[in-house]
Amino acid sequence: MNPRRTHYTNTAIALHWVSALLIAGGFVLGLTMVDLPVSPRKLQWYSYHKWIGVTVFGLVCLRLLWRLRHPVPLAPSGMRPWQRHVAGVTHWALYVLLFLIPLSGWLYSSASGYPVVYLGIKALQLPDLVHKGKAMAQVLRLVHELLNYTLLGLVLVHAGAALKHHFIDDDDVLRRMLPRRAVRSKARDESSCVAIDE
Ligand code: HEM
Repeated sequence: MNPRRTHYTNTAIALHWVSALLIAGGFVLGLTMVDLPVSPRKLQWYSYHKWIGVTVFGLVCLRLLWRLRHPVPLAPSGMRPWQRHVAGVTHWALYVLLFLIPLSGWLYSSASGYPVVYLGIKALQLPDLVHKGKAMAQVLRLVHELLNYTLLGLVLVHAGAALKHHFIDDDDVLRRMLPRRAVRSKARDESSCVAIDE
């Protein structure tokens, strides 16, 4: 990618929004499935939740690879240094959580004695990471839940900041994460942009 570009690449945009949709779906499913009575439906929903988690884990690995090869696009020049710094820290915190949440779910599954069989295909069964154990499963469940609620809080701040940039500051922060065909950038050239602090 040209290091001076002002818009995310189509790959980055697709990875961002597909991940966001999957995460939202997995989160709602996770909250709903635990209260279902024991039934084939409940087991199916647990499977869907795990498949979403494995997919998010794969996508975050792809995103990190993409990210190592592509610097963040230039930020609108109206963004203050502290705002660019907070944005950078938030993005990395989101990446860490997107990595740790599926991992904690996988660990929890192993400790509960329910292996993760991706897409129901036996050949894609993930190896157990820890031995089955009730106490360990309880701790890992708590860790998985806490990480998810931390992600929820961070996503609310992240999305709130993006919407504030769009509707109040009227800058390009949100537009550059939307397909170029759908939006018209306000920045006509890179002279109105600055490098983000990361
Ligand atoms: C589960 C939900 C979400 C997650 C996990 C997430 C995660 C991320 C991450 C990790 C980045 C950094 C990309 C990079 O530079 O490497 C990012 C960028 C961005 N996200 Fe999200 N996001 C989510 C939802 C949203 C929503 C709902 C919005 C808008 C309302 C949004 C707007 C943006 C924008 C505008 C950027 C670019 C910010 C910039 O360039 O400074 N995201 N997101």
